[in-house]
Amino acid sequence: MKLLVIGSGGREHALVWKLKKSKKVDKIFCAPGNSGIGQIAKCINIKPDNITELGDFAHRNKIGLTIVGPEGPLTKGIVDEFQRRRLKIFGPNRKAAKIEGSKVVSKEFMKKYHIPTAAFRVFNVAAEAIGFCRSVEFPVVIKADGLAAGKGAVVVRNFEQATKTIENMMIKHLFGHAGDKIVIESFLKGEEVSIMAITDGKSIIPFLSSQDHKQVYDGDRGPNTGGMGAYCPTSLVDEYLSEQIRDYILLPTIAGLQKEGITYKGILYAGLMITESGPKVLEFNCRFGDPETQAVLPLLKTDLLDLMLAAVNQKLGSGRRLDWLQGSAACVIMASKGYPTKYRTGVKISGLKNFSNDTCHIFHAGTVLKGNQWLTNGGRVLGVTGIDKDLRQALNHAYRAINKIRFEGAMYRRDIGAKALKKTVNQV
Ligand code: AMP
Ligand code: GLY
Repeated sequence: MKLLVIGSGGREHALVWKLKKSKKVDKIFCAPGNSGIGQIAKCINIKPDNITELGDFAHRNKIGLTIVGPEGPLTKGIVDEFQRRRLKIFGPNRKAAKIEGSKVVSKEFMKKYHIPTAAFRVFNVAAEAIGFCRSVEFPVVIKADGLAAGKGAVVVRNFEQATKTIENMMIKHLFGHAGDKIVIESFLKGEEVSIMAITDGKSIIPFLSSQDHKQVYDGDRGPNTGGMGAYCPTSLVDEYLSEQIRDYILLPTIAGLQKEGITYKGILYAGLMITESGPKVLEFNCRFGDPETQAVLPLLKTDLLDLMLAAVNQKLGSGRRLDWLQGSAACVIMASKGYPTKYRTGVKISGLKNFSNDTCHIFHAGTVLKGNQWLTNGGRVLGVTGIDKDLRQALNHAYRAINKIRFEGAMYRRDIGAKALKKTVNQV
Protein backbone atom coordinates (compact mmCIF):
# COMPACT_ATOMS: atom_id res chain seq x y z
CA MET A 1 0.00 0.00 0.00
CA LYS A 2 1.15 3.56 -0.70
CA LEU A 3 0.81 6.12 2.08
CA LEU A 4 0.81 9.89 2.20
CA VAL A 5 1.82 11.58 5.47
CA ILE A 6 1.02 15.29 5.76
CA GLY A 7 3.30 17.59 7.77
CA SER A 8 6.96 18.45 8.15
CA GLY A 9 8.10 18.09 11.76
CA GLY A 10 9.57 15.58 14.18
CA ARG A 11 6.12 14.11 14.75
CA GLU A 12 5.77 13.33 11.05
CA HIS A 13 9.31 11.87 10.92
CA ALA A 14 8.36 9.54 13.79
CA LEU A 15 5.10 8.62 12.03
CA VAL A 16 6.86 7.83 8.74
CA TRP A 17 9.57 5.86 10.58
CA LYS A 18 7.01 3.78 12.43
CA LEU A 19 4.68 3.24 9.45
CA LYS A 20 7.63 2.09 7.36
CA LYS A 21 7.95 -0.94 9.62
CA SER A 22 4.57 -2.23 8.46
CA LYS A 23 4.82 -5.10 5.99
CA LYS A 24 1.83 -3.71 4.08
CA VAL A 25 3.65 -0.51 3.16
CA ASP A 26 5.25 -0.24 -0.28
CA LYS A 27 6.03 3.45 -0.42
CA ILE A 28 5.52 6.54 1.73
CA PHE A 29 5.16 10.08 0.45
CA CYS A 30 5.37 13.05 2.78
CA ALA A 31 3.96 16.51 2.04
CA PRO A 32 6.04 18.56 2.38
CA GLY A 33 8.27 16.60 4.80
CA ASN A 34 11.85 17.69 5.49
CA SER A 35 15.34 16.49 4.51
CA GLY A 36 15.47 14.02 7.43
CA ILE A 37 12.15 12.49 6.39
CA GLY A 38 13.51 12.53 2.84
CA GLN A 39 16.04 9.87 3.87
CA ILE A 40 13.24 7.33 4.38
CA ALA A 41 10.31 8.64 2.31
CA LYS A 42 9.64 10.62 -0.84
CA CYS A 43 8.96 14.26 -0.01
CA ILE A 44 6.58 16.15 -2.28
CA ASN A 45 6.32 19.88 -2.40
CA ILE A 46 2.68 20.45 -1.43
CA LYS A 47 1.74 22.54 1.60
CA PRO A 48 -0.44 20.89 4.30
CA ASP A 49 -3.18 23.50 3.79
CA ASN A 50 -3.43 22.91 0.05
CA ILE A 51 -6.26 20.40 0.40
CA THR A 52 -7.27 20.26 -3.26
CA GLU A 53 -3.75 19.58 -4.48
CA LEU A 54 -3.22 16.94 -1.78
CA GLY A 55 -6.45 15.24 -2.86
CA ASP A 56 -5.35 15.33 -6.51
CA PHE A 57 -2.00 13.81 -5.54
CA ALA A 58 -3.62 11.04 -3.47
CA HIS A 59 -6.01 10.25 -6.32
CA ARG A 60 -3.33 10.27 -9.05
CA ASN A 61 -0.90 8.13 -7.03
CA LYS A 62 -3.49 5.65 -5.74
CA ILE A 63 -2.65 6.40 -2.11
CA GLY A 64 -4.16 3.71 0.14
CA LEU A 65 -4.20 5.89 3.25
CA THR A 66 -3.40 9.52 3.99
CA ILE A 67 -2.31 10.39 7.54
CA VAL A 68 -2.61 13.98 8.73
CA GLY A 69 -0.04 15.30 11.23
CA PRO A 70 -0.93 18.93 12.01
CA GLU A 71 -4.26 20.40 13.15
CA GLY A 72 -4.47 23.07 10.42
CA PRO A 73 -5.70 20.88 7.55
CA LEU A 74 -7.98 18.90 9.91
CA THR A 75 -9.77 22.01 11.14
CA LYS A 76 -10.01 23.21 7.53
CA GLY A 77 -11.84 20.02 6.52
CA ILE A 78 -9.25 17.92 4.67
CA VAL A 79 -10.98 14.75 5.89
CA ASP A 80 -14.40 15.86 4.61
CA GLU A 81 -12.89 16.67 1.21
CA PHE A 82 -11.00 13.35 0.95
CA GLN A 83 -14.10 11.41 2.02
CA ARG A 84 -16.13 13.23 -0.61
CA ARG A 85 -13.61 12.01 -3.16
CA ARG A 86 -13.63 8.48 -1.69
CA LEU A 87 -9.98 8.73 -0.62
CA LYS A 88 -9.06 7.00 2.65
CA ILE A 89 -7.72 9.35 5.29
CA PHE A 90 -6.85 9.02 8.97
CA GLY A 91 -8.02 11.93 11.12
CA PRO A 92 -11.18 13.62 12.38
CA ASN A 93 -13.46 15.58 10.06
CA ARG A 94 -13.93 19.35 10.32
CA LYS A 95 -16.74 19.20 12.85
CA ALA A 96 -14.88 16.70 15.03
CA ALA A 97 -11.64 18.71 14.82
CA LYS A 98 -13.43 21.65 16.49
CA ILE A 99 -12.57 19.94 19.74
CA GLU A 100 -9.14 21.51 19.21
CA GLY A 101 -10.04 24.28 16.79
CA SER A 102 -12.31 26.12 19.23
CA LYS A 103 -11.71 26.31 22.98
CA VAL A 104 -15.28 27.54 23.43
CA VAL A 105 -16.74 24.54 21.61
CA SER A 106 -14.41 22.20 23.50
CA LYS A 107 -15.18 23.65 26.96
CA GLU A 108 -18.93 23.76 26.35
CA PHE A 109 -18.83 20.18 25.12
CA MET A 110 -17.00 19.11 28.31
CA LYS A 111 -19.52 20.96 30.46
CA LYS A 112 -22.47 19.39 28.67
CA TYR A 113 -21.13 15.86 29.09
CA HIS A 114 -19.68 16.28 32.59
CA ILE A 115 -16.10 15.71 31.52
CA PRO A 116 -13.86 17.04 34.32
CA THR A 117 -12.22 20.34 33.39
CA ALA A 118 -11.50 23.73 34.99
CA ALA A 119 -14.52 25.96 35.72
CA PHE A 120 -14.81 28.63 33.02
CA ARG A 121 -16.65 31.55 31.49
CA VAL A 122 -16.81 32.60 27.83
CA PHE A 123 -16.61 36.24 26.70
CA ASN A 124 -16.95 37.97 23.36
CA VAL A 125 -16.79 41.55 24.68
CA ALA A 126 -13.48 42.75 26.17
CA ALA A 127 -15.08 45.12 28.72
CA GLU A 128 -17.18 42.28 30.14
CA ALA A 129 -14.15 39.99 30.40
CA ILE A 130 -12.19 42.73 32.20
CA GLY A 131 -15.17 43.40 34.48
CA PHE A 132 -15.32 39.71 35.37
CA CYS A 133 -11.62 39.76 36.29
CA ARG A 134 -12.32 42.36 39.01
CA SER A 135 -13.94 39.66 41.09
CA VAL A 136 -11.90 36.52 40.35
CA GLU A 137 -9.33 34.87 42.52
CA PHE A 138 -5.96 34.88 40.75
CA PRO A 139 -4.24 33.14 39.06
CA VAL A 140 -6.66 32.44 36.21
CA VAL A 141 -5.95 31.23 32.69
CA ILE A 142 -7.08 33.26 29.70
CA LYS A 143 -7.40 31.39 26.41
CA ALA A 144 -8.05 32.60 22.89
CA ASP A 145 -10.86 30.62 21.32
CA GLY A 146 -9.14 29.73 18.05
CA LEU A 147 -5.82 28.18 17.03
CA ALA A 148 -2.88 30.32 18.11
CA ALA A 149 0.16 28.11 17.50
CA GLY A 150 0.45 27.10 21.14
CA LYS A 151 0.56 30.71 22.36
CA GLY A 152 -3.13 31.22 23.02
CA ALA A 153 -3.22 30.24 26.72
CA VAL A 154 -1.86 32.72 29.27
CA VAL A 155 -1.68 32.23 33.02
CA VAL A 156 -2.32 35.63 34.61
CA ARG A 157 -1.50 36.39 38.24
CA ASN A 158 -3.16 39.77 38.80
CA PHE A 159 -5.73 42.19 37.41
CA GLU A 160 -3.18 44.21 35.39
CA GLN A 161 -1.88 41.12 33.60
CA ALA A 162 -5.44 39.99 32.96
CA THR A 163 -6.41 43.34 31.43
CA LYS A 164 -3.33 43.38 29.22
CA THR A 165 -3.92 39.82 28.01
CA ILE A 166 -7.60 40.47 27.27
CA GLU A 167 -6.69 43.65 25.37
CA ASN A 168 -3.99 41.83 23.40
CA MET A 169 -6.41 39.11 22.38
CA MET A 170 -9.67 41.00 21.90
CA ILE A 171 -8.72 44.57 21.03
CA LYS A 172 -5.23 44.40 19.48
CA HIS A 173 -6.12 41.09 17.79
CA LEU A 174 -2.68 39.57 18.45
CA PHE A 175 -3.99 36.21 17.29
CA GLY A 176 -6.33 37.56 14.60
CA HIS A 177 -9.86 36.15 14.73
CA ALA A 178 -8.70 33.42 17.14
CA GLY A 179 -9.11 36.05 19.89
CA ASP A 180 -12.62 37.24 18.98
CA LYS A 181 -13.88 35.09 21.83
CA ILE A 182 -11.97 34.08 24.92
CA VAL A 183 -12.30 31.59 27.74
CA ILE A 184 -11.34 32.54 31.28
CA GLU A 185 -10.84 29.51 33.47
CA SER A 186 -9.67 28.68 36.94
CA PHE A 187 -6.06 27.68 37.45
CA LEU A 188 -5.53 23.99 38.16
CA LYS A 189 -2.68 22.74 40.32
CA GLY A 190 -0.99 19.43 39.65
CA GLU A 191 1.19 17.63 37.17
CA GLU A 192 0.50 17.55 33.46
CA VAL A 193 0.19 14.35 31.45
CA SER A 194 -0.55 13.74 27.78
CA ILE A 195 -2.82 10.90 26.75
CA MET A 196 -3.12 10.06 23.09
CA ALA A 197 -5.79 7.57 22.14
CA ILE A 198 -6.86 6.06 18.84
CA THR A 199 -10.57 5.95 18.08
CA ASP A 200 -12.92 4.87 15.31
CA GLY A 201 -15.77 6.90 16.76
CA LYS A 202 -17.13 3.91 18.70
CA SER A 203 -14.19 2.39 20.57
CA ILE A 204 -11.18 4.22 21.96
CA ILE A 205 -7.82 2.72 22.87
CA PRO A 206 -5.29 4.80 24.80
CA PHE A 207 -1.56 4.73 24.06
CA LEU A 208 0.95 4.83 26.91
CA SER A 209 0.95 8.10 28.82
CA SER A 210 3.65 10.68 28.21
CA GLN A 211 4.76 14.01 29.56
CA ASP A 212 5.74 17.06 27.55
CA HIS A 213 8.10 19.84 28.73
CA LYS A 214 6.59 23.02 27.35
CA GLN A 215 8.80 25.77 28.77
CA VAL A 216 12.01 26.59 26.97
CA TYR A 217 14.42 26.49 29.95
CA ASP A 218 15.35 23.96 32.62
CA GLY A 219 13.18 23.99 35.72
CA ASP A 220 10.08 24.84 33.63
CA ARG A 221 11.18 28.45 33.26
CA GLY A 222 10.79 30.82 30.32
CA PRO A 223 8.12 31.06 27.67
CA ASN A 224 6.04 28.15 26.42
CA THR A 225 7.26 26.43 23.27
CA GLY A 226 5.83 23.72 21.03
CA GLY A 227 7.54 21.28 23.42
CA MET A 228 11.20 20.79 24.41
CA GLY A 229 11.07 17.09 25.19
CA ALA A 230 8.90 14.25 26.36
CA TYR A 231 9.17 10.88 27.97
CA CYS A 232 6.98 7.80 27.99
CA PRO A 233 5.44 6.18 29.99
CA THR A 234 4.84 8.30 33.09
CA SER A 235 4.80 6.63 36.50
CA LEU A 236 2.04 9.08 37.43
CA VAL A 237 -0.52 7.23 35.33
CA ASP A 238 -0.83 3.93 37.15
CA GLU A 239 -3.59 1.37 36.66
CA TYR A 240 -6.03 3.24 38.89
CA LEU A 241 -5.51 6.56 37.15
CA SER A 242 -5.72 4.87 33.71
CA GLU A 243 -9.13 3.56 34.65
CA GLN A 244 -10.24 7.00 35.82
CA ILE A 245 -9.02 8.58 32.60
CA ARG A 246 -10.83 5.94 30.55
CA ASP A 247 -14.09 6.04 32.53
CA TYR A 248 -14.40 9.78 33.23
CA ILE A 249 -12.68 11.29 30.21
CA LEU A 250 -12.13 9.10 27.14
CA LEU A 251 -15.35 7.06 27.08
CA PRO A 252 -17.66 9.99 27.96
CA THR A 253 -15.95 12.08 25.27
CA ILE A 254 -16.61 9.49 22.56
CA ALA A 255 -20.17 8.95 23.84
CA GLY A 256 -20.76 12.72 23.91
CA LEU A 257 -19.42 13.15 20.38
CA GLN A 258 -21.73 10.36 19.19
CA LYS A 259 -24.69 12.11 20.83
CA GLU A 260 -23.71 15.27 18.95
CA GLY A 261 -23.82 13.23 15.73
CA ILE A 262 -20.04 13.36 15.34
CA THR A 263 -18.05 10.28 14.31
CA TYR A 264 -14.55 11.03 15.51
CA LYS A 265 -11.94 8.89 13.76
CA GLY A 266 -8.25 9.39 14.41
CA ILE A 267 -6.17 10.40 17.39
CA LEU A 268 -7.78 12.15 20.32
CA TYR A 269 -5.13 13.84 22.44
CA ALA A 270 -6.11 14.81 25.97
CA GLY A 271 -3.81 17.22 27.78
CA LEU A 272 -4.57 16.51 31.43
CA MET A 273 -3.80 18.06 34.77
CA ILE A 274 -3.61 15.41 37.46
CA THR A 275 -5.08 17.35 40.38
CA GLU A 276 -5.75 16.35 43.98
CA SER A 277 -9.32 15.65 42.96
CA GLY A 278 -8.41 13.54 39.93
CA PRO A 279 -7.55 14.09 36.25
CA LYS A 280 -8.99 17.17 34.53
CA VAL A 281 -8.81 18.11 30.87
CA LEU A 282 -6.72 21.20 30.05
CA GLU A 283 -7.20 20.80 26.33
CA PHE A 284 -8.12 18.36 23.62
CA ASN A 285 -6.09 18.12 20.43
CA CYS A 286 -7.37 16.42 17.31
CA ARG A 287 -4.03 14.84 16.34
CA PHE A 288 -0.80 13.28 17.55
CA GLY A 289 1.15 15.46 20.01
CA ASP A 290 4.60 16.76 19.22
CA PRO A 291 7.09 15.89 20.75
CA GLU A 292 5.10 13.17 22.60
CA THR A 293 4.78 11.09 19.41
CA GLN A 294 8.58 10.94 19.19
CA ALA A 295 8.68 9.26 22.61
CA VAL A 296 5.53 7.11 22.38
CA LEU A 297 5.80 5.50 18.93
CA PRO A 298 9.29 4.00 19.49
CA LEU A 299 7.74 1.88 22.27
CA LEU A 300 4.75 0.70 20.23
CA LYS A 301 5.16 -2.84 18.94
CA THR A 302 1.71 -3.12 17.32
CA ASP A 303 1.58 -2.38 13.59
CA LEU A 304 0.51 1.28 13.39
CA LEU A 305 -0.91 0.99 9.87
CA ASP A 306 -3.18 -1.89 10.95
CA LEU A 307 -4.43 0.23 13.81
CA MET A 308 -5.06 3.26 11.61
CA LEU A 309 -6.89 1.23 8.99
CA ALA A 310 -9.03 -0.36 11.71
CA ALA A 311 -9.93 3.13 12.96
CA VAL A 312 -10.76 4.43 9.50
CA ASN A 313 -12.87 1.33 8.73
CA GLN A 314 -14.56 1.49 12.17
CA LYS A 315 -13.25 -1.94 13.12
CA LEU A 316 -11.09 -1.00 16.10
CA GLY A 317 -13.14 -2.99 18.63
CA SER A 318 -12.97 -2.39 22.36
CA GLY A 319 -11.14 -5.67 23.13
CA ARG A 320 -8.06 -4.90 21.03
CA ARG A 321 -4.84 -4.70 23.04
CA LEU A 322 -1.75 -2.80 22.02
CA ASP A 323 1.70 -4.34 22.41
CA TRP A 324 4.40 -2.19 23.94
CA LEU A 325 8.12 -2.62 24.46
CA GLN A 326 8.94 -2.89 28.14
CA GLY A 327 10.93 0.13 29.25
CA SER A 328 11.03 3.86 28.59
CA ALA A 329 11.66 6.32 25.82
CA ALA A 330 12.79 9.91 26.21
CA CYS A 331 12.90 12.54 23.47
CA VAL A 332 15.07 15.64 23.93
CA ILE A 333 14.53 18.48 21.46
CA MET A 334 17.54 20.37 20.10
CA ALA A 335 16.36 23.85 19.18
CA SER A 336 17.86 26.96 17.57
CA LYS A 337 19.10 29.80 19.75
CA GLY A 338 16.27 32.29 20.25
CA TYR A 339 13.44 29.75 19.84
CA PRO A 340 10.45 30.14 20.43
CA THR A 341 10.69 33.72 19.17
CA LYS A 342 13.39 34.80 16.70
CA TYR A 343 16.05 32.41 15.49
CA ARG A 344 18.48 31.98 12.64
CA THR A 345 18.29 29.17 10.11
CA GLY A 346 20.94 27.83 7.74
CA VAL A 347 23.39 27.06 10.59
CA LYS A 348 25.73 24.13 9.87
CA ILE A 349 25.06 20.94 11.81
CA SER A 350 27.92 18.50 12.38
CA GLY A 351 28.02 15.02 13.86
CA LEU A 352 24.60 14.18 12.50
CA LYS A 353 25.11 10.58 11.51
CA ASN A 354 22.34 8.11 11.22
CA PHE A 355 22.11 7.10 14.86
CA SER A 356 18.95 5.12 14.30
CA ASN A 357 19.31 1.84 16.15
CA ASP A 358 17.53 0.01 18.95
CA THR A 359 18.49 2.52 21.61
CA CYS A 360 18.44 5.85 19.77
CA HIS A 361 16.50 7.55 17.00
CA ILE A 362 17.02 11.00 15.58
CA PHE A 363 13.85 12.58 14.29
CA HIS A 364 14.27 15.68 12.16
CA ALA A 365 12.02 18.66 12.78
CA GLY A 366 13.79 21.59 11.10
CA THR A 367 16.75 20.50 9.01
CA VAL A 368 17.71 20.77 5.38
CA LEU A 369 20.41 18.89 3.48
CA LYS A 370 22.38 21.08 1.02
CA GLY A 371 24.78 18.86 -0.90
CA ASN A 372 26.42 16.87 1.88
CA GLN A 373 25.88 19.51 4.55
CA TRP A 374 23.01 19.43 7.07
CA LEU A 375 21.73 22.89 8.03
CA THR A 376 19.20 24.07 10.58
CA ASN A 377 15.88 25.06 9.07
CA GLY A 378 13.52 25.81 11.96
CA GLY A 379 13.09 26.55 15.66
CA ARG A 380 12.91 22.95 16.72
CA VAL A 381 15.70 21.26 14.80
CA LEU A 382 15.98 17.65 16.01
CA GLY A 383 14.21 15.27 18.36
CA VAL A 384 16.70 12.85 19.87
CA THR A 385 14.97 9.84 21.38
CA GLY A 386 16.68 7.31 23.63
CA ILE A 387 15.10 3.97 24.47
CA ASP A 388 16.03 1.47 27.15
CA LYS A 389 14.75 -0.56 30.05
CA ASP A 390 14.21 2.47 32.27
CA LEU A 391 13.94 6.23 31.98
CA ARG A 392 17.44 6.92 33.30
CA GLN A 393 19.06 4.69 30.66
CA ALA A 394 16.80 6.08 27.94
CA LEU A 395 17.87 9.62 28.86
CA ASN A 396 21.53 8.57 28.87
CA HIS A 397 21.23 7.39 25.27
CA ALA A 398 19.51 10.60 24.20
CA TYR A 399 22.01 12.93 25.89
CA ARG A 400 24.99 10.88 24.68
CA ALA A 401 23.80 11.30 21.09
CA ILE A 402 23.18 15.00 21.67
CA ASN A 403 26.78 15.43 22.83
CA LYS A 404 27.95 14.27 19.42
CA ILE A 405 25.70 16.64 17.44
CA ARG A 406 26.79 20.25 17.16
CA PHE A 407 25.44 23.45 15.72
CA GLU A 408 26.08 27.01 16.77
CA GLY A 409 23.57 28.16 19.37
CA ALA A 410 22.09 24.69 19.89
CA MET A 411 19.72 24.78 22.84
CA TYR A 412 18.24 21.87 24.70
CA ARG A 413 16.87 21.21 28.14
CA ARG A 414 19.08 19.18 30.41
CA ASP A 415 16.27 18.16 32.73
CA ILE A 416 13.88 16.16 30.54
CA GLY A 417 12.31 13.51 32.78
CA ALA A 418 14.17 14.86 35.82
CA LYS A 419 11.01 15.27 37.92
CA ALA A 420 10.10 11.64 37.28
CA LEU A 421 13.61 10.44 38.14
CA LYS A 422 13.53 12.40 41.40
CA LYS A 423 10.25 10.74 42.25
CA THR A 424 11.72 7.27 41.73
CA VAL A 425 14.68 8.14 43.94
CA ASN A 426 12.37 9.44 46.67
CA GLN A 427 10.20 6.37 46.43
CA VAL A 428 13.10 3.95 46.89
P1 AMP B 1 -3.73 24.74 26.52
O1 AMP B 1 -3.36 25.37 25.20
O2 AMP B 1 -5.12 24.90 26.90
O3 AMP B 1 -3.24 23.34 26.65
O4 AMP B 1 -2.79 25.46 27.57
C1 AMP B 1 -1.37 25.51 27.42
C2 AMP B 1 -0.70 25.30 28.75
O5 AMP B 1 -1.18 26.27 29.71
C3 AMP B 1 -1.01 23.95 29.40
O6 AMP B 1 -0.16 22.95 28.92
C4 AMP B 1 -0.79 24.26 30.86
O7 AMP B 1 0.58 24.24 31.17
C5 AMP B 1 -1.30 25.68 30.99
N1 AMP B 1 -2.72 25.67 31.40
C6 AMP B 1 -3.79 25.70 30.57
N2 AMP B 1 -4.93 25.70 31.26
C7 AMP B 1 -4.60 25.66 32.56
C8 AMP B 1 -5.34 25.63 33.78
N3 AMP B 1 -6.66 25.68 33.81
N4 AMP B 1 -4.65 25.58 34.94
C9 AMP B 1 -3.30 25.55 34.93
N5 AMP B 1 -2.55 25.59 33.82
C10 AMP B 1 -3.17 25.64 32.64
N1 GLY C 1 2.86 18.69 22.86
C1 GLY C 1 1.70 19.46 22.76
C2 GLY C 1 1.04 19.45 21.46
O1 GLY C 1 1.34 18.66 20.60
O2 GLY C 1 0.13 20.24 21.27
